[in-house]
Amino acid sequence: MTFLLRCYELLLISLFLLASEGFGQTPPDLNSKALTIFEQNCGNLGCHGGPDPYSFDVRDPASLLTAKVIQSGNASGSELIRRLEAGIMPLGGYKGQRGVKLPAEDIQILRQWIDAGGPESARLPRSVQRQFISESQVLAAIVRDLVSAPEADRPYLRYYSLANVWNSMDVEEPELELYRMALSKLVNHLSWKREITQPRQLGSESTVLRIDLRNYGWTAETWREIIASFPYGLEPSGLSKEINRVQALSGVSLPYIRVDWFIANASTPPLYHTILQLPGTLDELETLLDVHATFDVEQNLARRFGLRNSGVSRNNRAMERHSTVYGAYWKSFDFAGNNPGQNIFRDPLDLRADGGEIIFNLPNGLQAYFIADRQGKRIDAAPVNIVRDRTNPDDPVVRNGRSCMGCHVRGMNAFRDEISATLRARPQALFDLDRAEVLYSGQPELDRLLELDNTRFSRALGRTGSGTPKGTDEEPISRLARKYETTLTVSQAAADLFIEDPKELQKLIENSTPLQIQGFDQLLGPKGGIKRDAWEQGFGLVARELGIGEFFSPGPWGNEPQKAQ
Ligand code: HEC
Repeated sequence: MTFLLRCYELLLISLFLLASEGFGQTPPDLNSKALTIFEQNCGNLGCHGGPDPYSFDVRDPASLLTAKVIQSGNASGSELIRRLEAGIMPLGGYKGQRGVKLPAEDIQILRQWIDAGGPESARLPRSVQRQFISESQVLAAIVRDLVSAPEADRPYLRYYSLANVWNSMDVEEPELELYRMALSKLVNHLSWKREITQPRQLGSESTVLRIDLRNYGWTAETWREIIASFPYGLEPSGLSKEINRVQALSGVSLPYIRVDWFIANASTPPLYHTILQLPGTLDELETLLDVHATFDVEQNLARRFGLRNSGVSRNNRAMERHSTVYGAYWKSFDFAGNNPGQNIFRDPLDLRADGGEIIFNLPNGLQAYFIADRQGKRIDAAPVNIVRDRTNPDDPVVRNGRSCMGCHVRGMNAFRDEISATLRARPQALFDLDRAEVLYSGQPELDRLLELDNTRFSRALGRTGSGTPKGTDEEPISRLARKYETTLTVSQAAADLFIEDPKELQKLIENSTPLQIQGFDQLLGPKGGIKRDAWEQGFGLVARELGIGEFFSPGPWGNEPQKAQ
């Protein structure tokens, strides 16, 4: 009951705010009429209002735009109007009468409201749009979830919090959803399980996401390795009761971490390799995937392609594909130069590469990545004299995992095979031309294989809920990871510490000589900010100085006996 009252209050506050200031061009009574129609017909708990609004919340018109059910200024092109006119919505009929549509006058009001740009001008002030979420709310959501889970499952449940992103006023609404999508995509990219499992959204604002370690083949040890490098583990002051409860129920001292940190760090080595348990050499990787490269080439089971003008390598490049039980295994042969020993056009059978990049399918159809040096040893990043990431001028280093995900957004990248035609035109060669012609099977075969592999990948992506990005800019993991690594604003720093008002954080720093001495005074002033690594290193100190919490050092987490196996 109190909850319903709160919703109602919120609605009144929103309507009041709308009526008093947020309108722009749209007449106030049109706004309030439209919102009343929504509230009465769509805003039931469990539908498009209440604690878990389905895709949009009618109490927040901006969410209608985000969910793309409304095109501002274009009622006829808006999905919402289409559904109302077709009688698809309200579900179950107007006022619960099957087959009865929303009255035509009401639809007309909504049409006028959309045509007048209503949803655009009705965007609520930020403070109302997103209410601050406290750490105790995060803990409460976790406790609720643990209590409702069967006892036998509790040791395997782990949580990700989006609260600091939510609380940061620098993050726009659509981006929040991107974080949820990126997390779902990433945990499944780090899984050796056949099924794809999306994290479960908890809490009234879906700012806590839950995973079950077993769904990804992770163990308590995997989690321990993750938190061993997590720099934001605080035991917040005044919340020891809640913390103790969480610890007692889960059997772990830190069963929850931050989504933004995880996306930036688990997508790249060392964590990327650790979580996915990738072996240390190419040979071991091929054994693991049951790929018999030499045999496949001899038996004409593998396919090769070659190109002179690569999108990433400065030099000519050859690619080899094998089939595996999970799908494909693609390996590139990368060269530091094009001199005779490195010229794939001179001898495409005997390739002596300076390194290679590998993409292979995981059992769930998503891709995993691997970089090998000349000796076949696994490395974290490719040497820039061999390949470079041209989409990222600030940091052209191709790092395993995240860089690959950011460029291979649809799966394998299309290219033009330039070898097969030259082979077929060559009367004589330094190598076995017949064998080479079979191995280098040409463009149509390449296109067929790429299509096969990309369909598999895009189906798997669909099941993560994140969909196939249209371009490199839209790939959520690399986009959010790059963002994470830029300079923090004061608003983000305050949100990291669960301080609602950034000015409050600035005041605290102004009054703390120890923090100023350590250089945190760079957060002062309207343009204050701090580099991510400096912030991570100093986070424990800031939290202690400000009395916000005591830093758990990685030691105690790592040494602690844990129940989960
Ligand atoms: C800057 C963008 C970019 C990055 C980053 C990138 N690739 Fe690629 N990759 C390409 C392009 C473009 C091709 C197509 C062939 C070419 O132009 O070299 C390709 C092709 C490949 C192929 C051959 C199969 C295919 O997709 O055509 C493999 C294997 C491969 N890359 C592995 C990797 C791995 C592993 C990483 C991460 C360590 C990585 N790539 C990072 C752009 C990129």
